[in-house]
Amino acid sequence: MESRQVALVTAAAGAGIGSAVAHRLAADGFDVVVTDIHERRLREKTEKLSSEFGREFSSYLLDVTDESAVRSVITDIAERKGRLDVLINNAGWSKIEPVAEMSSETWRRCLDVDLNGTFYTMRYALPIMQAQRSGAIVNISSIAAYETTAEHGAAYSAAKAGVLALTRVAAAENGRFGIRVNAIAPGLIYNEFLRRIYPDEFFEGYAEKRSLVGRVGRPEDVAALVSFLVGPEAGYITGEVYGISGGVYPVG
Ligand SMILES: NC(=O)c1ccc[n+]([C@@H]2O[C@H](COP(=O)([O-])OP(=O)(O)OC[C@H]3O[C@@H](n4cnc5c(N)ncnc54)[C@H](O)[C@@H]3O)[C@@H](O)[C@H]2O)c1
Repeated sequence: MESRQVALVTAAAGAGIGSAVAHRLAADGFDVVVTDIHERRLREKTEKLSSEFGREFSSYLLDVTDESAVRSVITDIAERKGRLDVLINNAGWSKIEPVAEMSSETWRRCLDVDLNGTFYTMRYALPIMQAQRSGAIVNISSIAAYETTAEHGAAYSAAKAGVLALTRVAAAENGRFGIRVNAIAPGLIYNEFLRRIYPDEFFEGYAEKRSLVGRVGRPEDVAALVSFLVGPEAGYITGEVYGISGGVYPVG
């Protein structure tokens, strides 16, 4: 039997997009490697996948801001599984502070998780994909990369805009190796943890007044797009950014 394709998903043990992506790629038949910074949730997510799909899933405790940890996790995956087909950069962090009041810790942490973390995983995954002459990477950016609002905070918007540039250049460099690199820019994708960082006013009336489809986004909506982008029908798609925001901010 041919071995399953291997997909690494960062921040896959939360309540949002990463968890839904891990689930969806497992359902698509991938050998999903689940990583997250949160140990208990990581264990629970991996156990849940194993019981639902009736097969084992590997997991690694991984803070994407720790470059040497990223390198050793990816090296270990390549040694144990002999391949790395898909990388989903989902880890994100934000704290909303106006520029005039922002601490340098907030600025640095945001750039570190959202942009540097995405670079680190790509830095160590790409040589493996180049050697096997195939691969697909999807980076989760945000409509915050485009919007002129104060809703997301400048550090987050800057980091997510950086992810788009990183995506495009990596796509240009790696098409000849059979590797595709794309980004997704979601609008509001509701999960229970978002309430901690966004004020109530952000959610009030969102579905009725801002979304064009009368609801907020769900993590599964993004997971379906990821599934398509890493799949065989997306073979002509690279260096692109896909918006998914219920029409709130069409990026095209
Ligand atoms: N939810 C939204 O509305 C929305 C909108 C646009 C973009 N995004 C982006 O989508 C991605 C997923 O966000 P989500 O809200 O769906 O949450 P999520 O549940 O997918 O991610 C949260 C998880 O990230 C993990 N995490 C945090 N810092 C980490 C680090 N340094 N290393 C590894 N893991 C870390 C947490 O432990 C948690 O399990 C993020 O990049 C976010 O910026 C989200």
